[in-house]
Amino acid sequence: MTKARNIGDDTATSAPAGQARIDEANSAFWNELCGSQLARFLGITDDSPESLRRFDDWYMEFYPYLDTHIPFQSFGGKRVLEVGLGYGTVAQRIAGHGAIYSGLDIAAGPVDMANRRIAGIKAKGTAVKGSILQAPFPDATFDYVVAIGSLHHTGALDRALGEVHRLLKPGGGASIMVYNAASYRQWVFAPVKTLRRLMADPTGYISHNETDPRVRGVYDVNVEGSSAPQTEFVTRAELSHLARAFSRCEIIPENIGGEFVLRYLPRKFACRLFGPYLGLDLYCRLVK
Ligand SMILES: C[S@@+](CC[C@H](N)C(=O)[O-])C[C@H]1O[C@@H](n2cnc3c(N)ncnc32)[C@H](O)[C@@H]1O
Repeated sequence: MTKARNIGDDTATSAPAGQARIDEANSAFWNELCGSQLARFLGITDDSPESLRRFDDWYMEFYPYLDTHIPFQSFGGKRVLEVGLGYGTVAQRIAGHGAIYSGLDIAAGPVDMANRRIAGIKAKGTAVKGSILQAPFPDATFDYVVAIGSLHHTGALDRALGEVHRLLKPGGGASIMVYNAASYRQWVFAPVKTLRRLMADPTGYISHNETDPRVRGVYDVNVEGSSAPQTEFVTRAELSHLARAFSRCEIIPENIGGEFVLRYLPRKFACRLFGPYLGLDLYCRLVK
């Protein structure tokens, strides 16, 4: 089994002490809903159905490929677990498609938001506070697991994927999104590191935090400007190795940011043109 490393340093530790610190930091940081800056930008100040609809419309238009990577249409009557809930757009969409919804998040804020949304649309399900590294559900509970942008913050992506595997029924599926260690952004900021990473043996990969808070902050920052405490990046080969217990694993890069010349290109066009080669995020479809 691989070891997680401490927040902000590069020393391998044998969790749980290091892991407890990571969980505590994550629980505090993510209590402010991921998407709060966007909500501010959109002038959203409450949780009324109209405000949430405006947020969700923006979110789904900004990430139009989510509908391709998450099979919402097939969720009717299925037990679906979402890990890492943020502002709750995906939670509401899963539950709204008739799933028996379960949500899991290490922070209280996203759990409360998901539960308000589920109650608001009178759907089936509930969200609970806890970590995917010790998920409070028995083996083989779920038909499907959705984890968008969350497992790479846990401090132990390998263990998180192991839990997703444990929680799925045989033949069950998962849609996972994690950050790409070989995106255009990594090539621009750290070309040598990125090249080394691509050339390294993926079977030697060990979960580790990105030590530079500025790099973490380019991806996730709160309203005060602090970076997410724990973020890891993986290549396609590393992710596919970490997911080796699954019978199927398909990985597609997506998402282009707005830096440099990219800000002059229409986002949809840039995402379609460069996303599948150099995208910021790796979307992974898994089958147990
Ligand atoms: C970047 S947000 C993504 C939220 C949402 N999926 C989205 O795409 O907007 C990451 C989420 O993962 C949650 N998270 C971090 N570590 C976790 C853990 N160990 N177990 C469960 N959730 C965790 C955070 O609390 C946060 O809500």
